[in-house]
Amino acid sequence: AWINHDVYLKCLQSQNSNSISKVAYTPKNSSFSSILLSSEQNLRPASTAPLKPTLILTPFHESHIQAAIYCAKKQGIQIRVRSGGHDYEGLSYTSPSKHPFVIVDLRNFSSISIDTESSTAWIQGGATLGELYHKIAEKSKTLAFAAGVCPTVGVGGHFSGGGYGMMSRKFGLAVDHIIDAKIIDVNGRILDRQSMGEDLFWAIRGGGGGTFGIIIAWKVELLPVPEIITVFNLTKTLDQNATQLLHKWQYIADKIDPNLLIRPRITNVNSSQNGKITLQATFNSLFLGGVDELLSVMNRSFPELSLVKEDCTEMSWIESILFFAGFATSESVDVLLSRIPLGIAYFKGKSDFVKQPISENGLEAIWKRMLEEVDGLVEMEFSPYGGRLSEISEYATPFPHRAGNIYMLHYGAVWGSSSESEEKLTWIRRLYSYMASYVSSSPREAYVNYRDLDLGENNDGNHPSYKVASIWGTKYFKNNFERLVHIKTEVDPSDFFRNEQSIPPFSS
Ligand code: FDA
Repeated sequence: AWINHDVYLKCLQSQNSNSISKVAYTPKNSSFSSILLSSEQNLRPASTAPLKPTLILTPFHESHIQAAIYCAKKQGIQIRVRSGGHDYEGLSYTSPSKHPFVIVDLRNFSSISIDTESSTAWIQGGATLGELYHKIAEKSKTLAFAAGVCPTVGVGGHFSGGGYGMMSRKFGLAVDHIIDAKIIDVNGRILDRQSMGEDLFWAIRGGGGGTFGIIIAWKVELLPVPEIITVFNLTKTLDQNATQLLHKWQYIADKIDPNLLIRPRITNVNSSQNGKITLQATFNSLFLGGVDELLSVMNRSFPELSLVKEDCTEMSWIESILFFAGFATSESVDVLLSRIPLGIAYFKGKSDFVKQPISENGLEAIWKRMLEEVDGLVEMEFSPYGGRLSEISEYATPFPHRAGNIYMLHYGAVWGSSSESEEKLTWIRRLYSYMASYVSSSPREAYVNYRDLDLGENNDGNHPSYKVASIWGTKYFKNNFERLVHIKTEVDPSDFFRNEQSIPPFSS
């Protein structure tokens, strides 16, 4: 179905006199490609996408978005909304199906206002986490927000799916602190928490992006942090007992003082001794307190790691954001304002949830699978549970993975050219299938923000069937899937907002 972009553009102009042409890009426009790919952090989706968007709109006014929805409905084309563009499968700017679409790119919707008196913030839907963290730190040394680590991730997608970060044991997820929102619905109405009602307000806090409408702003409560916190990134090789340490970590990760979050990451590296590929574990850690207190917590609960003062650095919360994003802490915090992705490569990610510790033998058998992949970067990241994260009911938000988990697993593979894609995908799928006996089952749970189209796809990006969608829907949302379907049926019965893994209405 070929759609003439001029027809769509004319419709936009007739709907909206508010200089909309200045923010509409068709393939004829010389900056079309650079805008299309500017926030692309993963080269894989675009390399296989069958169609480019008909048009990209970078609205700076709500009426532009309303016009985009009206005209897309009129012409029967889809809308993809993009905030930070970090969707693992690129669903905010590509479509694996052959259905024509336009992109509403919210880069100009990124203003943030902080109210230190009430400890709240309004954040527009296209802002990045880096912009948010920067703005908070500009206003206060003791307020913060609990969300993801990568500063170029957008709040539009991230808050729509959960939002796990280095303070999640203390505070839970980003969605646990959203107190209001503004959304433009399928009829072009601008709704806030009161006018959208508690059902839709529940659904947008974790039910996944791109399903319920276009979030134009979130209101969050800011969180209190000490002026000085402590971080460490301790790396151990297999020769330095990485396996035994990780094994022990599983017994303390979710039980240790909730001010402390230790997030190990296993990666492959060239051994400095013989040049062969080996694995190492890096224990990325944040403690909401000073170094002496941290050392006493570690001595009590995890002495095996032999943490000493020299491994640790005291710093402010905003410096810790730089630290975990891989910047030197001497770097200006203004680097957080850049929207250019920090690493650009071919990438595939997957997730799992672990409820029973894995034995040392089990870990060693997993390492063997990891070492099968020799020339790309592979990683397994272990995100601990416990604390606030596990106290919140699994029905409080659509994100259902709460009590009973010790940690969430993230698998990642990164490579440099499309010719390697098939081999890397085969490798990560084999590892995932091997992991089945160690992780949650019935359903095998997955994190919607680590989106994975291997779990299933709606019919060619078109109207999904409930049955097909429930396969991946129950993995992402468990019993909350049913409620999400009910709410979708209420607010968007014709299934206008959809993608390969959106929530279907009952009618379809
Ligand atoms: P993007 O713009 O691609 O949107 C993702 C989805 O949400 C798409 O379906 C899109 O249409 C929809 N959407 C976007 N804006 C919307 C809006 N305003 N209204 C409605 N729908 C909207 N996660 C985590 O929990 N903790 C972490 O530390 C990290 N770290 C991390 C690092 C890196 C490098 C990547 C690539 C990803 C992560 N993530 C993560 C995963 C991240 O949370 C996830 O990819 C988010 O969906 C990205 O949100 P963006 O807005 O950037 O994506």
